[in-house]
Amino acid sequence: MALLILCSVFAFLSVQLEAQLTVGFYATSCPSVETIVRQEVTKGFNKNSGIAAGLVRMHFHDCFVRGCDASILIDSNTTNTAEKDSPANNPSLRGFEVIDSAKTKIEAQCKKTVSCADILAFAARDSVVLTKGPFYDVPAGRRDGRVSLVSEVLQHLPGPTLTVDQLTQNFAKKGLTLDEMVTLSGAHTLGRSHCTTIVNVDNRLYNFNGTNTTDPTLHPTYAAQLKQQCPQGSNDGSSAVPMDPGSDSVTDVSYYTSILANRGLFTSDQTLMTNATTASQVIQNAGSQDLWFSKFKAAMVNMGKIEVLTSTAGEIRTNCRVIN
Ligand code: HEM
Ligand SMILES: *[C@@H]1O[C@H](CO)[C@@H](O)[C@H](O)[C@H]1NC(C)=O
Ligand SMILES: *[C@@H]1O[C@H](CO)[C@@H](O)[C@H](O)[C@H]1NC(C)=O
Ligand SMILES: *[C@@H]1O[C@H](CO)[C@@H](O)[C@H](O)[C@H]1NC(C)=O
Ligand SMILES: *[C@@H]1O[C@H](CO)[C@@H](O)[C@H](O)[C@H]1NC(C)=O
Repeated sequence: MALLILCSVFAFLSVQLEAQLTVGFYATSCPSVETIVRQEVTKGFNKNSGIAAGLVRMHFHDCFVRGCDASILIDSNTTNTAEKDSPANNPSLRGFEVIDSAKTKIEAQCKKTVSCADILAFAARDSVVLTKGPFYDVPAGRRDGRVSLVSEVLQHLPGPTLTVDQLTQNFAKKGLTLDEMVTLSGAHTLGRSHCTTIVNVDNRLYNFNGTNTTDPTLHPTYAAQLKQQCPQGSNDGSSAVPMDPGSDSVTDVSYYTSILANRGLFTSDQTLMTNATTASQVIQNAGSQDLWFSKFKAAMVNMGKIEVLTSTAGEIRTNCRVIN
């Protein structure tokens, strides 16, 4: 009997503790928030369409490190090196100014009401829509964290050399399934990779897996093209190649069709063909944009719920770059 009561108390508590985000969270407190974010993301996108890729990736990098708490937005200072200065984020992550300008406009209308974490989640969704991907409602009510540590980034973000089993484990730690991992990887239909990542981190071109050769699973024409764009020893840090050549500013299934053609950019992309389950998902997604869109919408919503702070936890930052 005592055990039964204890169990129900725990069941009750765990329901209470499960963070609740809701669609329309700001409907009365800041009704124009989503319009403002959309306008600012659109402005940024019109100047540089790569901003869309940047914001989708920024939301992912926020959520995988300490949950979706806008820890990615915090600036380093003399006493703390923040997440954004990890080699996984600096200099590649882009779009910070878009979040800043949205935040400034929102603060002018609704003081200390909307979290930076929610602004980023809305901005990622708007980026998907601007690149011709599907619209989805974003549950909101996240609060901003007060901690951002560079040391936590590489512990939590997957690297481009990971295999399917390692990727699955990495996503599972965040409560995401193997199917969601394959679905979210489709975001690599957008944006770019720096040559330094390709040559120094996931070296499939010149020194695949320490063999001093090119990865045999990389399509030879694509390999030759990449070698031209990213010559060995090219280390200027600024040169980059499209993640999905020909459609790098369109959210579509060409990421999956590329993988089927042995044209996945990273080991972590092409590895999806080495496992029967993930390979069949790649084939399914490649064959049906509707299917992938519907899975992608749901997976983005789930990713946006990772370890969120709600209610009275954390804070509503006034400036997304600094703790209040
Ligand atoms: C599955 C594991 C993943 C790995 C190993 C990975 C790794 C990477 C790497 C190494 C880059 C290139 C960075 C550079 O050098 O510029 C990149 C870019 C990108 N990633 Fe991922 N990623 C993964 C999953 C995701 C997910 C889940 C999303 C979003 C839902 C995402 C969105 C993006 C986007 C949009 C870009 C292009 C960014 C830009 O153009 O600014 N990635 N990723
Ligand atoms: C530096 O940043 C940390 C964390 O973001 C913050 O707690 C601290 O107060 C900041 N220090 C200064 C000197 O601004
Ligand atoms: C595919 O990968 C998953 C996750 O690591 C693993 O559980 C499964 O056994 C793998 N399937 C095959 C056929 O290797
Ligand atoms: C990389 O090399 C190791 C050790 O030689 C080997 O066990 C592993 O299967 C290789 N990985 C790939 C992706 O070829
Ligand atoms: C790797 O290959 C290049 C040419 O393909 C050669 O010059 C170099 O000596 C090789 N290095 C090793 C360690 O085998």
